[in-house]
Amino acid sequence: MQLKTIALLALAPALIAGSVFAQSDSKTEGEALMPVSAFADIKEEKERSVALFNEAGKVITHARCVNCHPRTDRPLQGEDMRPHQPLVVRGPDGFGATGMRCTTCHGPTNVDHAKLPGHPLWHLAPIEMAWEGKKLGEICEQIKDQKRNGGKTIDQIVEHMAEDSLVGWGWAPDRGRTPAPGTQKEFGALIKAWADTGAVCPAT
Ligand code: HEC
Ligand code: HEC
Repeated sequence: MQLKTIALLALAPALIAGSVFAQSDSKTEGEALMPVSAFADIKEEKERSVALFNEAGKVITHARCVNCHPRTDRPLQGEDMRPHQPLVVRGPDGFGATGMRCTTCHGPTNVDHAKLPGHPLWHLAPIEMAWEGKKLGEICEQIKDQKRNGGKTIDQIVEHMAEDSLVGWGWAPDRGRTPAPGTQKEFGALIKAWADTGAVCPAT
C-alpha cells in the first residue's frame, strides 16, 4: 500500500466522525416570515388582509402545527406528516386512550437524545380543529367559526396564536425537527394585523 493511501485511510474515520458531529450539532433553522410592514403598500384592505393570512399560512400549514391537528384520531409525525408510530389515538380528551396516554411517552420538556417532543400539556387538537389536508382558506374559515374553534372570539384567536405555549412549541421543537417559520412573535403580529384588517379569508 502506498503511503498516501494509508494516510487517507487513517484520516477517513476522523472525517466521517467530524461530519456526523457537525450534522447533529447544527441547529435546524426554520424558514423566514415577512414582517407586517412588507404588506403596507397593498392599498385595498381586504386584499391586504388575505395577503397577511397567506403569509401566516406558512406557519399554519407547517408540519409542526398540522401534526397535532390531524383529520383522523391519530397524530402525525415528522416533516412528511406520516401517521404516528406507535398507533395512538385521541381518546376522550385529546390526551390519548386509557393505557396509552400521550404523557406515557411525552414528558413536560423535549428529550433531544430520545428524539421525543415534550410539553406539560402535550395532547391532540379536537377533531373539529382538524387542519390536515385542508386548503388554507378552509382552515381560515374554521379558525373564525366559534362552533369549531372552541368558542373563541377573534381577539382570543389572536391571543392564542401569539401567546399559547403549546402553539409556541412549534418554534422550539426537539433537536432535529424543523421549527415553524419565523418566530411566534412575528406570527402573532401577522395574525393581529389580519384581524385588524377585517380577518378576510383567502378564497378556497
Ligand atoms: C402538541 C399538539 C399541538 C401542537 C404542536 C399545536 N397545536 Fe394547536 N391545538 C392543540 C390543542 C390540544 C388545541 C385545543 C386546545 C386549546 O384550545 O388550547 C389546539 C388549538 C389550536 C387553535 C385554536 C383554534 C382552532 O380553530 O384551531 C389554534 C389557532 C392553534 N391550535 C394553532 C396552532 C398553531 C399555529 C400551531 C403551530 C405553530 C399549533 N397549533 C400546534 C394542539 C396542538
Ligand atoms: C409509546 C410512546 C408514545 C405515545 C404514547 C405517544 N407518542 Fe407521540 N411520539 C412518540 C415518539 C417516539 C415520537 C417521535 C417520533 C419521531 O421521530 O418523529 C412522537 C412524536 C409525536 C409527534 C410529532 C411531532 C412533530 O411535529 O414531528 C406528535 C404530534 C405526537 N407525537 C403526538 C402525540 C399525541 C397527541 C399522543 C397522545 C394521543 C402521543 N403522541 C402519544 C411516542 C409516543
